[in-house]
Amino acid sequence: MFNRREFLEALSALGVTSVLAGCSDGNDHGSVLGEDVLAGPAATAFSSSLSRGTQMEIGGDADGDEELGVVAGKLPWDLEGHVLIVASVPTRADTPLLTGEGVVYRISFSEQGARIKTRIIRTDDWYVAQQVQGTADDFGILFDIAQFSPTYGARNLANTALLPIMNGRLLATYDMGRPIELDPRTLHPITPVGLQDSWRPSLDSGLFTMHFVTAHPAYDAKEQRVYAINYGLTPLAQFLRIMRWSGASEPEFLDVVDAQGKPVALSMLGHQMSITEHYVVILDGAFDVVGTTPPTQAPLYIVAKSSLTAGKPAVAKRIVIDRECTHFLADYNDAGDRVRLLLMHHNGTNTGSRLKEDDVGFRSGELIGGQFFRSGSDRNVVGRHEIHVPSGTVTSVLLSNDSTWGVGLWGQDPRSWDKLGTAFYQSFGFNPDYLPARDAQKYADYPFGANFAREVPLSMLPADIITPKLVHIDHEGMQDLQTYAFEQYTLASSPTFVPRKGRATDDDGYILVTVAGHKRDELWIFDATDLQRGPLCKLSHANLDFPFTLHSTWMPSLESHVPSYKVERAEDYGKRIDNLARDKQQLARDALQI
Ligand SMILES: [Fe+2]
Repeated sequence: MFNRREFLEALSALGVTSVLAGCSDGNDHGSVLGEDVLAGPAATAFSSSLSRGTQMEIGGDADGDEELGVVAGKLPWDLEGHVLIVASVPTRADTPLLTGEGVVYRISFSEQGARIKTRIIRTDDWYVAQQVQGTADDFGILFDIAQFSPTYGARNLANTALLPIMNGRLLATYDMGRPIELDPRTLHPITPVGLQDSWRPSLDSGLFTMHFVTAHPAYDAKEQRVYAINYGLTPLAQFLRIMRWSGASEPEFLDVVDAQGKPVALSMLGHQMSITEHYVVILDGAFDVVGTTPPTQAPLYIVAKSSLTAGKPAVAKRIVIDRECTHFLADYNDAGDRVRLLLMHHNGTNTGSRLKEDDVGFRSGELIGGQFFRSGSDRNVVGRHEIHVPSGTVTSVLLSNDSTWGVGLWGQDPRSWDKLGTAFYQSFGFNPDYLPARDAQKYADYPFGANFAREVPLSMLPADIITPKLVHIDHEGMQDLQTYAFEQYTLASSPTFVPRKGRATDDDGYILVTVAGHKRDELWIFDATDLQRGPLCKLSHANLDFPFTLHSTWMPSLESHVPSYKVERAEDYGKRIDNLARDKQQLARDALQI
């Protein structure tokens, strides 16, 4: 029977990174981090900066942009191309952190300097949401992660990740909505990918269905195709389908079953998948369902591309790796049927619930409710796992050191699509005052009898703050190549590799990170070959006010093109509008102009 609580608990955790929790709606705007460091465990101004962000757009409606000012250092002349970052900005003052409007920040580099454009991603449901604001049909918050209207259904917020695909095209993605193609020049949506009714829903109500989709589709540059997944997360809707899309016509959906021929049922979160030359790799990403034993494993489903044929389910091989995980990188080269993955294990970290107002720190016993920041109960692990697919054997090399406390987001040289290549990540560090006593108690017995040990016993957790880091990782030797330690309380995110103009070798470029601050928000530029030197340049703009930023990417150029594929709204929504109550139909037709 459908378990509503489980379903909603699932929704509440989607897309939440391992150290994020709580949402302050304060009006102060954090500190210029690294320059004006906040003192004390209750750095609430810092927290509030990250949970807000403006819907004010920079650069106008078309393809305009505005100059980014240098606030410290000097901007190197040889950065190349365009960084694109996505985030969720609050729809209203009470919008939870990751449940707001998708907004894209585009930073363009040339010898003349850096420029910025920001745009709200106006998905089809956005237009309806504008019309019903403040009415009984308004989209409310469905627990912490979805926006839902009983009349019109679920929003596709498109606020989680960006993926460059064939011919300079760009997708914006979300865990509970189909990918949206954006025009890289204007940042306006061109089309959703696939008819809505091609995506099997988990909640089918009103005009817009809620369908679970990976927030990390993968683009195969060799095949010139996009892969994604569509899955069910409730007992009534257990299925896993791989979507394959050429970019020119309707995508294909291909069923995946287990070795017994039953539909694969992800138990947690299909947030991340990836591809190699011959396989599709799907991670059952970890989150912590309230009231159950927290996860300790990273279940992977590996599907041979050669088995993806219409009308015949593909069989997935299930491989289980110790220590839970939400994000990973895959090496495209799978010679010898050996799939090599780099997993960011957030072992011992509660990802399933927000901090409560009465939460107190593990060490201090002081109130930390309302904080944005939350530390895990263990030092995290980066794992390189080589899976021999035919035999299912796994060879693992693990890295766990001062840099891996609170592992965060990846950055990669985007030119290295056919290999694992250069990899960077940022980590949030550890703050004993930000580990809730509730989590320490919940994870006291971690890993709950599993066949591995904690990295650090609970009783031996550091008494002092471990600072956030930016790390260039050597995944061959599994060691830090270079590390930059931020000041405490700095929250840098969205590390993005920017190639150096005219250079084609790995590593030779820059790393851009977002830094949310008290006086202003900034973009910091590091030399990728010399992280220890610190930021070479800090950029800002009078109207730059981002919340916690999520995934990012880099594109060499911005191409507008005549869409070779476009879902027509009348076909997409026409029948569903007809099924709405008569007095609700016209609003939908007007909003969608059909
Ligand atoms: Fe993600």
